[in-house]
Amino acid sequence: MNIRRTNLFFLAIFLVWFSISLQGQKRDLDFRVDSLLRLMTLEEKVGQMTQYNGFWEVTGPVPVGGDARKKYDHLKNGLVGSMLNVTGVEEVRKMQEMVVKETRLGIPLIFGLDVIHGHRTVFPIPLAEAASWDLDAIEKSARIGATEASARGINWTFGPMVDISRDARWGRVMEGAGEDPYLGAKIAAARVKGFQGNDLSAPNTIAACAKHFAGYGFAEAGRDYNTVDVGTSTIYNAILPPFKAAAEAGVRTFMNSFNVLNGIPATGNAFLQREILKGKWGFTGFVVSDWGSAWEMMDHGFARDLKHAAELAANAGSDMDMESSGYVNHLKALVEEGKVTMGVVDDAVRRILRVKFELGLIDDPYRYCDENREKTLVGSAEHHAAALEVAKKSIVLLKNEGGLLPLSKSQKKIGLIGVLASEKNSPLGSWRFGSIDSSAVSVLEGMQKISKDIAYAQGPSLVTGIVDFEQELKINETDRTGMKEAIVLAKKSDVVVLVLGEHGFQSGEGRSRAKLDLPGLQQELLEAVYKVNKNIVLVLMNGRPLTIPWAASRVPAIVEAWHLGSESGNAIAQTLFGEHNPSGKLPMSFPKSVGQLPLYYNHYPTGRPWPKPEVFWSHYTDESNDPLYPFGLG
Ligand code: BGC
Repeated sequence: MNIRRTNLFFLAIFLVWFSISLQGQKRDLDFRVDSLLRLMTLEEKVGQMTQYNGFWEVTGPVPVGGDARKKYDHLKNGLVGSMLNVTGVEEVRKMQEMVVKETRLGIPLIFGLDVIHGHRTVFPIPLAEAASWDLDAIEKSARIGATEASARGINWTFGPMVDISRDARWGRVMEGAGEDPYLGAKIAAARVKGFQGNDLSAPNTIAACAKHFAGYGFAEAGRDYNTVDVGTSTIYNAILPPFKAAAEAGVRTFMNSFNVLNGIPATGNAFLQREILKGKWGFTGFVVSDWGSAWEMMDHGFARDLKHAAELAANAGSDMDMESSGYVNHLKALVEEGKVTMGVVDDAVRRILRVKFELGLIDDPYRYCDENREKTLVGSAEHHAAALEVAKKSIVLLKNEGGLLPLSKSQKKIGLIGVLASEKNSPLGSWRFGSIDSSAVSVLEGMQKISKDIAYAQGPSLVTGIVDFEQELKINETDRTGMKEAIVLAKKSDVVVLVLGEHGFQSGEGRSRAKLDLPGLQQELLEAVYKVNKNIVLVLMNGRPLTIPWAASRVPAIVEAWHLGSESGNAIAQTLFGEHNPSGKLPMSFPKSVGQLPLYYNHYPTGRPWPKPEVFWSHYTDESNDPLYPFGLG
């Protein structure tokens, strides 16, 4: 035998051994899962299919009839399989101990949390990271998010969010990878790899969750929780590819979604969950509902009552119920009445137990409860350095006319203007559980580290109104305090760096906007500054594309800096002063007007596409049509 043949021979033997060993491991796992399943009562099975929120943070409407005492009783009686929003080793251990020690079978809980862009160390919002087009950097960001979250007791993230969207009115575009399904698919796989690593049972990896299955990003008119009605081509060519990529990358869980897809709520949608996901794609993990999405099938007029909702959800393949209490209250009766078969329940529980085994929780329920890791890893200097790198890569230089950028370090008289420039909270963006409020480096701090000659004026305020949006609007649109001072500074500066955009909670869930211009009095500020000084570098800090045609056609330099996380100000300052060359590219188009939405680069050719000296061609009569967007994808 020559060397080549010998090598081939050993390779063949290795492959046979490897495949036998994989099959053996799978058989082993199936055997352990089935052995445990056989010991379980129907109530205990339903328990595994139930997920409760913790007692502190809420990420959705407080459930009707939600009662903390009931929750404790259910936990102690084996009626809960998972909790979300419980964080920190101490709290996680407390809950885990209660369940492991007090329930009959002691099956550990799986703890879920939205680890969307980092945890204590906050990375750029996912839309910003997508602008880096750097899959290794994105994977690393997810890896660090997993490292920190797992060090705080978490073993499951509700991410990546892989919804494609073409409508910037929808506030959740900040969580996704933009409008392109190909880029979205690549990023979905990178994030799954980052969260899950190569060994799910390692204490620093966590199960990922591809969400929201499916179509949530296509809500009509960009209004959150609204109807989705799209054709087959959009489903297969735009919506599903990132989910399929996540499944192929081995994602262990999926989350269904709030929306109705073509008349059927995703949570009760057997076509999506049974036919596509578990059927065609052969997905072996489990599906969790979104927060109360089974309950919301009543709002959609699809379910008569909660019991009916539980029946529809279980039969359609929604394995775990997040915060609807539909399964815990009704599933047992539904099985006894023959409306849901034991086979459906067993299949769901098998999937959930399998993931718990894979995470190593059944062997060691406290695998993710190590105070020492929590103390040393969370928010480490190394993680901040990585966050800074990704933040710099996420910045997009939209425009630089007349060489205004980079700023020179010896440049005197730089006027920094805008309330967002000194903000330490907004740069953290939306969806940042685990972070410390106001912990980001502000642009002002970042610039002062590089140059001593920065004068600052705040300009009009941009208050965050998580509590009262009406009040927020009123203040932001009428309070001109600070306007005068800002114009005075602009007048005496050589260059003005104007930081404008959205505050951290102006995008995210439930934050749809009907207008996408600079909120509050910021456009007025921009125009007033421009009147006295045209040397403007506009730094945008935002969670979604904005309509900025006025700025796009006049302001010489525009930098898209999103919500960049903990290291925001350092990344922006280093870029402005030329220590870093910005290389990001937009993953989502910026429309000129809201009326153009949905707007995306890969649309089908229209009929009558070409400009004509008559009215009968595809265009708007009240908007300049060339091109439709000031800044497009790529
Ligand atoms: C969101 C999900 C999130 C869940 C748990 C829901 O409101 O839609 O994306 O994972 O809450 O926080």
